[in-house]
Amino acid sequence: MFPSLVLLNGYAELLSQRNMKKKIITVVGARPQFIKNAPLEMALRKHERFEVKSIHTGQHYDDNMSRVFFEELDIDEPAYQLNVGSASHGKQTARMLESIEEILLMEQPSMLVVYGDTNSTLAGALAASKLHIPIAHIEAGLRSYNKTMPEEINRVLTDYLSTLLFVPSEVSLKNLHKEGVSDGIHIVGDIMLDTLKIAVGGNLTHNTQETPYYYATLHRPYNTDDKDRILNVLSAFNALSLPVVFAIHPRTSALLSSMNIAIDKYPNIDFIAPQGYFDNIRYMAGAEKIITDSGGLQKEAWFLKKPCVTLRPETEWIETLTNQWNILVFEDLKELKHALEITPGKYIGGCYGEGNTANKIANIIYHFLFDTQ
Ligand code: UD1
Repeated sequence: MFPSLVLLNGYAELLSQRNMKKKIITVVGARPQFIKNAPLEMALRKHERFEVKSIHTGQHYDDNMSRVFFEELDIDEPAYQLNVGSASHGKQTARMLESIEEILLMEQPSMLVVYGDTNSTLAGALAASKLHIPIAHIEAGLRSYNKTMPEEINRVLTDYLSTLLFVPSEVSLKNLHKEGVSDGIHIVGDIMLDTLKIAVGGNLTHNTQETPYYYATLHRPYNTDDKDRILNVLSAFNALSLPVVFAIHPRTSALLSSMNIAIDKYPNIDFIAPQGYFDNIRYMAGAEKIITDSGGLQKEAWFLKKPCVTLRPETEWIETLTNQWNILVFEDLKELKHALEITPGKYIGGCYGEGNTANKIANIIYHFLFDTQ
């Protein structure tokens, strides 16, 4: 072949490589992950050179724990549904691991994206790391320093396996540095603020309802699995000066019936089913205060400037504790009533970014995949 033709061929190949798409697979499975995934998938799909596919592990499977979020947040149907369902942690994670590995071997993506700290997060990260597929971890660097929580194990291990670590705040950055993790970290803010801004059209002001109430959710095993503890929680809710609207997670309602706990003994509590994204935000916005053990609700309360009491011994979201916008109550539930009467001090926002996290992440992934690989 003439040297000029060789050159031309080389140039054509370079051009086609440049135009080549790169495949990104996202793994979701539990309620908060659908919420975090919505703005990021939207941002990734805006880049023509990404091909984005998602895997739904099926960790959450009830319509009001899964389908409703896809519909409300307009998320594309996942390319793969694993339908793993509920099981012990080991079994559930193992089932996911096996299926995700098969898909990754078939799809050969350039990057895997995982969110938060659930069993679905760890399964995705483990499968990708063994196949040397770079991992992007959204919500990296969070720590409760409580190893009895499955989430703490999931998030620590996922951070160690990840190539790009997207942290929401300075605190999470420092947590990683303390553990000697320093490569690939990007402070991008909190992606749940993006979802909230999309959902409420940028208007984060709140409306208080005519009949005031507290809005509550609980799902952590240490609050729900022990009969004495859940009875104490229900009695504490029942003794509050405002009615409690309690959106009850399926694991909690299953436990209440298996423990033969009669909910009509608690007239101050209005038990309602788990809510979709919009209704949950509406209930939060209308409430006087929030009572929860969920990480996501602590942040959403903070974004909505709603005082929150968290029924946990510690929190990963320590910025929300500033000036008592979030108060921890755990051992002594008599403190709940008092904590709900406290008026928080000055609100100092901005620590979780401005709600443009998804675009920042998509641009960093683009740079990583096309400029450095
Ligand atoms: C999981 C995550 C937790 C996250 C939470 C959000 C782990 C270890 N935990 O907790 O980090 O904050 O999701 O909600 O990954 N169930 C149903 N229907 C469903 C889903 C669950 O009935 O659609 C019941 C089942 O009885 C199941 C139990 O809830 O055994 C627990 O579900 P699981 O996904 O294991 O943990 P969550 O408590 O939801």
